[in-house]
Amino acid sequence: MLLTELPGWLSLATRSKSIADMHLADLLEDESRQKALAFSNLENFYIDFSKQRITPEILHDLVLLAEQAGIKDRIQELLSGEIVNPSENRPALHTALRALDSDSCFLTDKTFNKKISKALRKMQSLIKRIHAGQWRGFSGKPIRDVVNIGVGGSDLGPLMTCFALDEFADPAGSNIRVHFASSIDGAQLAGLLPKLNPETTMFCIVSKSFTTIDTLSNAATALSWLGLRCDSVDSLKRLHFVGISTSPDKMKEWGICDSNQLQFWDWVGGRYSMWSTVGFSIALRIGMDGFREFLLGAHKVDKHLATTETNKNVPLLLALIDVWNCNFLSINAHAILPYDGRLKHLPAYLGQLEMESNGKSVSLQQKLIDYRTCPILWGEVGPNAQHAFYQLLHQGTEFVNSDFIIAKNRKAGASEEVVKAFDEHHHLNISNCLAQSRVLALGNKAMTEDEISNSSGFQQYAGNQSSTSIVIEQLTPETLGSLIALYEHKVFVSSVIWDINPFDQWGVELGKQIATKIQPILEGQSTDGLDSSTTALINAIRED
Ligand code: F6P
Repeated sequence: MLLTELPGWLSLATRSKSIADMHLADLLEDESRQKALAFSNLENFYIDFSKQRITPEILHDLVLLAEQAGIKDRIQELLSGEIVNPSENRPALHTALRALDSDSCFLTDKTFNKKISKALRKMQSLIKRIHAGQWRGFSGKPIRDVVNIGVGGSDLGPLMTCFALDEFADPAGSNIRVHFASSIDGAQLAGLLPKLNPETTMFCIVSKSFTTIDTLSNAATALSWLGLRCDSVDSLKRLHFVGISTSPDKMKEWGICDSNQLQFWDWVGGRYSMWSTVGFSIALRIGMDGFREFLLGAHKVDKHLATTETNKNVPLLLALIDVWNCNFLSINAHAILPYDGRLKHLPAYLGQLEMESNGKSVSLQQKLIDYRTCPILWGEVGPNAQHAFYQLLHQGTEFVNSDFIIAKNRKAGASEEVVKAFDEHHHLNISNCLAQSRVLALGNKAMTEDEISNSSGFQQYAGNQSSTSIVIEQLTPETLGSLIALYEHKVFVSSVIWDINPFDQWGVELGKQIATKIQPILEGQSTDGLDSSTTALINAIRED
């Protein structure tokens, strides 16, 4: 049956008409909603949906919709390694990567575990050598800087996690700095290379396909930079390059020797890959023990997804809230607002995870669909965004759904005075987070009667902007792992409701192909066959 014909969908469509005229300020007057719409059954998290424009009855119907869409079977298919990515004929087994032993793995075929453990052991031994100063560059000096060269899933996850967990750096690797370069224009490498010493710098080329031109062009630039100081290209490749890919052949062709290759597999999607050897830079930063805690956090959410009943299953409920906002309230913008500077790169990471997964308009049966899917998602560290785009959230013309993410406990600083100062920062930060979600929900009703009567026309706040608050006990490798798995599963559950494949990304392919055709034109070939706008742009760029 089509999604829009399911009884749950039809009932929600009716309910959406009655909620359209209700304001969150009125909904929040019912104190019992808190109990029904806030969840603390996921370890280390408190998740509050009470500032969403829903009622317990709507949530109940959303759960029914998920059940009617076959969510239980589909979760089972995902975890047990069935083909959930039909356009590429693959399973999506990121969950197997974080099952730390075969007993906790959802798969019956234990060969997956063996492969995963073997790859992690190899990664561990490379990291041990680098941390111990035993990996030496061409002049015999120990490696001190490691540059992760990759893009998309081979960059955003490791970058976001290394930045977020910097406080958890492994003391064994205190001499090692980790850097990231992704962009095809070479700008990041251009800024970074002058600060690095070629004798002590290693490049880690991360690419699932090992064909991505962005990454290969940055790798070639890194090699030429090193080559200025040492003539033997073979030694440079052996001493200064590690490769991480699903294709040992392509790594070999590039010149990465077997001992410097870390493998993962085509059953791991690029944007779901940081739990594999793609997490090399994360483990380099926080150590293998820290990396295992990170995996454990994600695994706990996998277990929660697999075993928790539908009406209390937190990633499932997160997905249903998105479906409600998108399909029934026409809210097509989603802001990710971490009140934690350590999560600075989270919005960009989730941008790829959500929009590359669910930015689709064709069903699993290859039919055009006639309902909305993934909203436009963006974000910024909340307290900074307050001084930038929050104006639009408070007084613009768009409805935006927001995720407020905050850590309940935050310890920072060394000396006593500084600890006190940071405690104050923490309270200021929490107050701001709570104030913003309150004003977005209540609008003028967050003010007193006096304040309202003294406000000008410019000082009116409509409110009724939905948000979810995600409170994390404390940000650690384990809880960050859980947070990311929570979003990954939210994306999967939404895709099931929307009947789309979240594990392919055909949309990005055509642009890459056309770029290869435009390059020779820029270099002088005829513009024949191009549209007039692109022709004029090329002519303008080619002009001296
Ligand atoms: O172009 C999109 C994409 O294929 C992403 O899905 C992927 O994460 C990124 O490019 C990098 O791909 P690779 O890891 O194969 O270099």
